[in-house]
Amino acid sequence: MSFSVPASLEAELDELTTHYPVQRSASLMFLHALQEHFGYISKEAVEWTARKLGLQPINVQELVTFYPMFRQEPLGRTQIKVCRTLSCALAGSAELREQFCTRLGLDAHAHAPQTTPDGRFTVEFVECLASCGTAPVVLVNGDLHHQVGAAEAEAILKNGQAA
Ligand code: FES
Repeated sequence: MSFSVPASLEAELDELTTHYPVQRSASLMFLHALQEHFGYISKEAVEWTARKLGLQPINVQELVTFYPMFRQEPLGRTQIKVCRTLSCALAGSAELREQFCTRLGLDAHAHAPQTTPDGRFTVEFVECLASCGTAPVVLVNGDLHHQVGAAEAEAILKNGQAA
């Protein structure tokens, strides 16, 4: 897929740059905007940002690798975020994540988000989803699922297969 930033987004970012005393300071805002648009930060996005802000690509790449909120790979169409913080951990979120990963043929022990080769699913551990009283909690494409057991996990996978 070719990398092309829409003119409206580029104009927005150009305008944003004028609010900073030095262009470089807009780097994080550029990366957030590009990730929101493309879903992740590609090599081309890093190079484009560097060109726009008069930087070397390494100056931008180091931000992408330093901040955990930036992704370097596209995510799956169904994104499954399993809470791993205390209440959910005590309620079995590790087993839940393992169930998702095992069923999808993903590495259940990897730290980074795991995406299936067909691009259907991404599974990852996240920190508290602010619903500790209904643990274990899973966020699926922005929808919170509460007290998720093995059967509901299967239903989540089934829905994702159909998506
Ligand atoms: S600990 Fe999982 S939602 Fe708070």
